[in-house]
Parts: sequence; C-alpha cells; structure tokens
Amino acid sequence: MLCKTSLLFCLVTAFFILSCVTLGLAGSDFDFPSFQTTSISGEIRNENNVLVSWGTKRLLTEDEPPLNSSLILAAKRTYRKDPLNNFKRYTGGWNISNRHYWASVAFTAAPFFVVALIWFVIFALCLLFICLCYCCCRRVPYGYSRIAYALSLILLILFTITAVVGCIILYIGQGKFHSSTVNTLDYVVHQANTTADSLRNISGYLAAAKLIAVDQVLLPGSVQTDIDRIQTKINSSANTLASKTEDNKDDIAGLVESVRLALIILSAIMLLLTFLGFVLSIFGMQAFVYILVIFGWILVTGTLILCGIFLVLHNVTADSCVAMNQWVQHPLAHTALDDILPCVDNATAQETLTKSKEVTSKLVDVVNQVITNISNNNFSPSFRPLYYNQSGPKLPILCNPFFSDLTDRSCSPGEVDLSNATKVWDNYVCQVSPSGICSTTGRLTPIIYGQMAAAVNVSFGLYHYGPFLVDLEDCDFVRQTFGDIYSIYCPGLQRYSKWVYIGLVMVGLAVLLSLTFWVIYGRERRHRVYTKEHMPKPAEG
Ligand SMILES: *[C@@H]1O[C@H](CO)[C@@H](O)[C@H](O)[C@H]1NC(C)=O
Ligand SMILES: *[C@@H]1O[C@H](CO)[C@@H](O)[C@H](O)[C@H]1NC(C)=O
Ligand SMILES: *[C@@H]1O[C@H](CO)[C@@H](O)[C@H](O)[C@H]1NC(C)=O
Ligand SMILES: *[C@@H]1O[C@H](CO)[C@@H](O)[C@H](O)[C@H]1NC(C)=O
Ligand SMILES: *[C@@H]1O[C@H](CO)[C@@H](O)[C@H](O)[C@H]1NC(C)=O
Ligand SMILES: *[C@@H]1O[C@H](CO)[C@@H](O)[C@H](O)[C@H]1NC(C)=O
Ligand SMILES: *[C@@H]1O[C@H](CO)[C@@H](O)[C@H](O)[C@H]1NC(C)=O
Ligand SMILES: *[C@@H]1O[C@H](CO)[C@@H](O)[C@H](O)[C@H]1NC(C)=O
Ligand SMILES: *[C@@H]1O[C@H](CO)[C@@H](O)[C@H](O)[C@H]1NC(C)=O
Ligand SMILES: *[C@@H]1O[C@H](CO)[C@@H](O)[C@H](O)[C@H]1NC(C)=O
Repeated sequence: MLCKTSLLFCLVTAFFILSCVTLGLAGSDFDFPSFQTTSISGEIRNENNVLVSWGTKRLLTEDEPPLNSSLILAAKRTYRKDPLNNFKRYTGGWNISNRHYWASVAFTAAPFFVVALIWFVIFALCLLFICLCYCCCRRVPYGYSRIAYALSLILLILFTITAVVGCIILYIGQGKFHSSTVNTLDYVVHQANTTADSLRNISGYLAAAKLIAVDQVLLPGSVQTDIDRIQTKINSSANTLASKTEDNKDDIAGLVESVRLALIILSAIMLLLTFLGFVLSIFGMQAFVYILVIFGWILVTGTLILCGIFLVLHNVTADSCVAMNQWVQHPLAHTALDDILPCVDNATAQETLTKSKEVTSKLVDVVNQVITNISNNNFSPSFRPLYYNQSGPKLPILCNPFFSDLTDRSCSPGEVDLSNATKVWDNYVCQVSPSGICSTTGRLTPIIYGQMAAAVNVSFGLYHYGPFLVDLEDCDFVRQTFGDIYSIYCPGLQRYSKWVYIGLVMVGLAVLLSLTFWVIYGRERRHRVYTKEHMPKPAEG
C-alpha cells in the first residue's frame, strides 16, 4: 500500500542517513580516534591507518640531530585526501598559504555536506509522497498495530530527549568555546601590544640619539647611521604590528561573537522546535506538525552544514596547534611558518645583539671621556671651549655594563648606573651666565647635561631592550608565545570546539529522527483513534 510504503520509506531514509553519517565518518579521514583522547596533540594516523601516539613519534625523532632542511609541519595530521589533486593524499603539511591544504581540510567535512544534500532531497521526496498519499488514499481503511504505536511513541520520546540533551551540550559547549577563543585572542593581542609598546619605547630612546653631540667629543659617524637605520626599522615594525593587530582583532572578535550568537539562536530554536513538535504530535495536531516538519527539514539541513563547518574549524585548530608545537621544537628547520613570520637567522640576530652592546659601550666611553677630560678637570680660563668655570665636587663616572670585548661587567664602586645617572648628575648642574660660563658652583652646564642625558638614554634603551630586540628578530619571542598557546590555550580550544561539534551532530541527527517520528507517530495515533471508533469494543461485542 502506498501509505505504508511511504512510511517505510521515511523510516528507511532516516536509518540510511544515520548509517551514511557513521560510514561516511569512518571512511573519511575524519580523526574520530583523536577525539577520544584527551591529549591535544592527539593521536595520528600513519599511512597504514595504525594509530601512533605523537609522544612516541617525538621520542623517535629526537634521537636524530635537528634538521636544517625543510620540515613539514603536522605532516601526519594533514595527510588527507585532496580533491584539487584527484583525491591523492595531500603531503604539504600545515601551510595556510597553500590552497591544497584548505581543500583537503574542507574535504573532511564532505560527508556532512553530502548527508545534508541527501537529507534535503530525500526528505522533500518523502514529504511529497506523504502528501500524494494523503490525497489519494485517505479512504483506505486503517490497520492498527499496538506494537507499532508503542514503538513509535517510545522512539519519539527517546529522540526528543536526545535532541534536548544535544541542545544543552551545544549551549554549554558554545559558551566554553567562546570564552576560550576570547581568552586566546586576548593573550595574542596582549603579546602584540606589549611588543609594539616596547618597540615604541625603544624608538623613544633612540630619538634621543639625534640630540647627541656631547660637547667637542663627537659620536663616530658609523654609530650615528647605525642608530638611524635601526630606528627606521623599529618604527615600521611597531606600526605594522599595531595596525595589523588592531585590524585582525576586530575582525576575529566580530566573527567570534557572530558564531556565538548563531549557535545560541540555533540551540534555542532547536529546543523550541523539539518541544513544540513533541507536544503537537502527542496531541495529534497534524496540520501544525507538518508545518513544523517543513521548518525542521530546513533547520536540520542547516545544522548538518554547520556541523561540517565546525569540523573544518576543529581540524584547522588542531593542525595549527600541532604545527606550532613542532615549529617550537625544531628551531633550525625551514617550515611553512617561516613564510609568514619574518624571522632572521641566528647569526644576524647575534650580530644585532653585538652591535647594540657595542653602541652602548661606546656611548658610555664617550660620556666618561667628557666627564674625566672636561667636567672633572680644572682648566685655566684661557682654555676657552673646555673651560666654563667648572668647580665643586667631581662627577661620578658612568658604569659601563660591558668590557671592551663586550662581555658583561659589573659596576665598580663610585660609578653610577645607566638607569639613574641622569638623576644623579642633575645635582652637578650649574647656572650659566649669558656668555655660557658657570656663575654658580657646578660641573655641568645645562647644555652639556642635556647631551649627556641623551647619550645615557640611548645607552640605557639599547642595553635594556637589546635582548628583547634580538628575541624578536630571531623569533624567540614568537616561539615562547606559541609554546604558551600550545600548552595553555590549545587544549581548551580543541576540547570545546569538539563539544560544539558533538552538540551539533546530536541536535542535527536527533531532530532529524524526531521529525520522522512526529509524522510516523501522528499516523499511528490516527490509526489507533480510527480503529477505536470503528471497531466494536470487545467488552460490548
Ligand atoms: C644545512 O646547513 C649547512 C651548514 O649549516 C648548509 O651547508 C646546508 O646547505 C644546509 N642545508 C639545507 C638544506 O639548508
Ligand atoms: C592594546 O593597545 C591599544 C592601543 O594601543 C589599546 O586600546 C588596547 O586596549 C590594548 N589592549 C590590550 C589588551 O592591552
Ligand atoms: C614603555 O615605557 C613606559 C614609560 O617609560 C613604561 O611604563 C612601560 O612599561 C614600557 N613598556 C614596556 C613594554 O617596557
Ligand atoms: C629619555 O627617554 C625617555 C623615555 O623614552 C624620555 O621620556 C625622556 O625624555 C628622554 N630623555 C632625554 C633627555 O631625551
Ligand atoms: C619613529 O617614530 C617616532 C615616534 O614614534 C618619530 O618621532 C620618529 O621620527 C620616527 N623615526 C623614523 C626614523 O621614522
Ligand atoms: C606553502 O605553500 C606555498 C603555496 O603553495 C608554497 O609556495 C610554499 O613553498 C609552501 N611552503 C612550504 C614550506 O612547503
Ligand atoms: C643562537 O646562537 C647562540 C650563540 O651563537 C646560541 O647560544 C643560541 O642558543 C642560538 N639560538 C638558537 C635558537 O639556535
Ligand atoms: C681624554 O683623556 C684620555 C686620557 O686621560 C685621552 O687618552 C683622550 O684622548 C682624551 N680625550 C679627549 C677627547 O681629550
Ligand atoms: C641608583 O641606582 C642604584 C642601583 O640601581 C642605587 O643603589 C642608587 O641608590 C640609585 N641612586 C639614586 C640617586 O637613585
Ligand atoms: C665661577 O664660579 C664661582 C662659583 O663656583 C663663582 O663664584 C664665580 O663668580 C664664577 N666665575 C665667573 C667668571 O662667572
């Protein structure tokens, strides 16, 4: 009979979809096994589909000397089918500038998109059949089976509960996912802000260099040009960093908020739909149930597509986490991350450090020469440029933090530290007459003091921020940041994107099956009512 067949058809469809999902997932590259592990690096599939724990793998590779050749990041995780390359396996590893990487990740969600499409088409056909059947064979006498009725009611209740649980998981999961995304974003922005801040501070210190011409003792020309070059570089880095951070932060924060809103609305609507559908079908309001079924049909399709998108998101996050960790662990290898991070090699970084030490040391020497040869000397008035009526207690000399071979040196007693020399020397400034001669006791004219302060500023800036600059240059700073992200933020991000994903799958499938059972139960219910009305009761008969 057409009615029965169409019902059966619906049922078969539902189970077909269910098995399709499971099979599709098992058959694809989808890393379900890694979902079961709590370790964020997870487990990985090697070519033979044998699960290899990443920890073991790392132990194995650590025996080898670090490579300076190309390292493929997250090679095992990203070993997926690439639809852009005849479905051959993609072997390029984590490389966001490679479209094959994106294609192969997106392909992991293909089962969901296929299921969404199948569901959309087949359920439409199903509805059509039911509609036709309703028109053509409404007069056919009903058969009623107690077991079918009970079974459909039990399954309806079961799927409704599953859908509600799925909605709850989805809601909690999206909350946690949102907060871990926001925390991660804040951390990255904070790191970028601190870096830009430090760079601006350095630029400020270097700006003082333009004021240096400490009396007659001129700074070597090469040092002047070095400082200028460094300042230009630092300025542009700070500005680029700040503007990029600001742009990206706003974009990402906007996206995160939209995803959160979408998931909240989705879980609320699904909850409402499940509840309404359940109540309406229990009370047998078939017309309303069919309206809800139409809504549910579209919503389920949307949910399945969203599942696919979240799966891609989850996989990209996991890939990136693994890639970051591998990059941190193999500092010498050339990787895809080097294409997007402007890291210079260790030798250049060390040269910068040497340069900054050299400039610091030279500036301190220059200032000290001025102090010993001019300020602390008592000249006769005939030595006019050098004589400016300096008198009173002698200035303490500046502490040079480096020996002439640029190794670290600690201060001798009686030397002042770079950090507060300016403050100490302030007490030795005299008042000058219009001719530029000290009229009160003191060993520094305000002009000489200003220039010495500028020199100290530059030395201090370079001394204090030099190591930071070098860390930045050879990406040590980025490595630390990535290490932190990997160990602190990655576990949460992965766990909660998984929650959202599982919630979506549960809601999608449970609502899908509920829809089917609203229809099936509604029919069984009508059959029952019809049978009761048209059959003489056994007690009376
Ligand atoms: C590895 O390093 C050595 C010396 O440091 C260099 O000669 C060689 O070309 C490097 N190999 C690659 C593939 O970069
Ligand atoms: C980063 O810096 C910008 C301005 O430079 C500031 O508005 C923002 O609040 C800072 N953010 C953090 C997290 O420090
Ligand atoms: C930059 O300088 C200001 C004032 O000199 C200081 O408060 C701030 O902590 C410095 N920032 C960094 C990152 O060192
Ligand atoms: C020294 O550097 C600080 C911070 O950049 C700045 O506020 C101060 O004005 C500088 N002093 C001189 C004398 O340039
Ligand atoms: C660097 O930036 C500072 C302000 O942050 C500015 O005063 C200076 O002129 C800039 N220097 C160069 C070389 O661009
Ligand atoms: C990453 O992909 C780009 C674009 O395909 C390619 O040029 C680059 O060499 C790749 N990087 C690595 C390390 O494979
Ligand atoms: C860079 O070189 C210095 C010495 O030249 C060494 O101490 C340091 O560990 C090296 N850093 C890296 C990341 O290789
Ligand atoms: C300062 O004195 C030292 C020796 O005390 C001498 O070698 C140096 O040339 C003098 N510098 C100037 C600029 O007079
Ligand atoms: C300068 O700093 C040193 C140590 O950093 C400290 O011992 C000394 O008291 C400070 N002097 C002044 C005047 O602040
Ligand atoms: C030189 O300084 C002393 C104070 O130390 C002052 O009494 C004297 O008048 C000054 N000489 C000139 C020519 O200004």
